[in-house]
Amino acid sequence: MNAVDDDAALNEAAYQALLADLAARRASARAGGGDKAQALHRGRGKLTVRERIDALLDPGSPFLELADLAGAGLHEGVPPGAGMVTGIGAVSGRLCMLIANDATVKGGTYFGITCKKHVRALTIAWMHRLPCITLVDSGGAFLPDQAAIFPDEGQFGSIFHHQVRMSAEGIAQIAVVMGACTAGGAYIPALADELVIVRGQGYLYLGGPQLTQAATGEDVDAETLGGALMHSATSGVADHLAEDDAHALAITRRLVARLADWPARRWQLTPPAPPRLPEAEIYRHISRDARHPSDNREVLLRLVDGSEFDEFKPLYGDTLMCGFARINGFPVGVLANRGVLFSDSALKATHFIDLCCKRDVPLLFLADVTGFMVGREAEQGGIAKAGAKFITAMASANVPRYTVITGGSYGAGYLAMCGRAFRPHAMFMWPGGRAAIMGPEQAATTLALVREQILQRSGQTWTDAEREAFKQPIRDEYERFANAYNFASNLWVDGVIDPLETRAALTLLLEAASRTPREETRFGVFRM
Ligand code: COA
Repeated sequence: MNAVDDDAALNEAAYQALLADLAARRASARAGGGDKAQALHRGRGKLTVRERIDALLDPGSPFLELADLAGAGLHEGVPPGAGMVTGIGAVSGRLCMLIANDATVKGGTYFGITCKKHVRALTIAWMHRLPCITLVDSGGAFLPDQAAIFPDEGQFGSIFHHQVRMSAEGIAQIAVVMGACTAGGAYIPALADELVIVRGQGYLYLGGPQLTQAATGEDVDAETLGGALMHSATSGVADHLAEDDAHALAITRRLVARLADWPARRWQLTPPAPPRLPEAEIYRHISRDARHPSDNREVLLRLVDGSEFDEFKPLYGDTLMCGFARINGFPVGVLANRGVLFSDSALKATHFIDLCCKRDVPLLFLADVTGFMVGREAEQGGIAKAGAKFITAMASANVPRYTVITGGSYGAGYLAMCGRAFRPHAMFMWPGGRAAIMGPEQAATTLALVREQILQRSGQTWTDAEREAFKQPIRDEYERFANAYNFASNLWVDGVIDPLETRAALTLLLEAASRTPREETRFGVFRM
């Protein structure tokens, strides 16, 4: 073995440790509310949330789970996932967004992060025009978390807003009431296009029996107030009465089969082909040390069909690779970092994004960037102008856009590579991915310099040891913040995925995007 092989082997070993960590985190999300709660749930004749999803999906359908680690560590006793499972899979031959409460986690109630997860799933569905199937089994708002649930956009009310607007655009909304469904939560199924409810198990009311008694003095049982038979025969709130979970899911599959036809694909596909270079070698090319860059060309060649990357302007602005490729036959325009962004790389990106918009090619951003170049030469060369062009092109582009943070993604570089604020159709992070305003060392040094100036003003100095004691907690905090799982927990990304899961995830999303209508792009003003 030579030094290069040694280095690659060390990279791979480091990545295997990251993957083991990812697997452990996913296992705790899969456990839901734990064995006791699951046994109680089953004892009520119900399927667990994951059994429901399995029964709903076509046999053998992939399921791209989204935000499975959302909420991790945010609330005592709440496992990763925020009491809800969301993801994309095929039902009756058609890709759908599945949104399902996990009643074993705090009665399936909604924390702020649960609302955010539900709204994000609807947003992804909206962008991909996916029918939405919501499996309702929830106590509604987790009342102590009111500030994060009730008053603002992006919270519970946005679930209703999105449902109504999507329904108006002909994006089907199907709800299946399989358990509790109270107060504000009752509007989730009530606003659906079609509603299935399970006899003796699904209850839907604006106020449950206790609340009704407190409010009106009326003593009424749950079945009379909001039971499945009452809603099917008397109130007319429900459209389909099911005998149990399995029956409800079978009805739901039938409802999906009867939706209007899935539109034809807007792109012509080439025959799908795996990368020619072994995909698993990706781990060998991802640097194990944040201070050393990864070999992103080698990484990219192991992600695309046939390892064929038709590079645009390869000799110009070479800190950003731009070019055309295919993912399982679907066309993509790739932008992948190979160092700091300079004016020439930003201009190349602008030109390339324009090409992709004109040709209706989806964009794939592979982000691993410390930011835009700073310093006198860069400023005098107009980097602010060039960077603004890049951001204008990226933000205006009306083609589907996907972002994967493969390494460190910092500052305005994070934003320009289609960061969260620019509404990518989906955004993932690899387990070693990091993102922050700047790196830990730069943040600690910047704040130490500011502190030093303040001390100097009052004629004080500090020792090296004092400076170090000031800097270390800043470094630690920046490390914690930048971590992929912090991003996943706060739902700043749609998930942390193994690099080898990237092609499958993108394939499913591109398949959905291919059925959406083409949109023209109108760019904002390009500062010349
Ligand atoms: N807010 C906060 N916590 C709630 C809650 C709510 N709306 N609903 C349930 N919980 C909590 C319970 O306190 C319990 O917490 P614990 O695990 O720390 O003891 C946990 O969720 C499970 O509740 P439990 O009642 O034991 O579960 P269940 O499966 O028997 O019943 C419900 C689930 C949802 C039917 C029942 O809890 C209920 O009716 N909740 C109130 C619903 C409501 O009125 N919501 C209005 C919100 S707008």
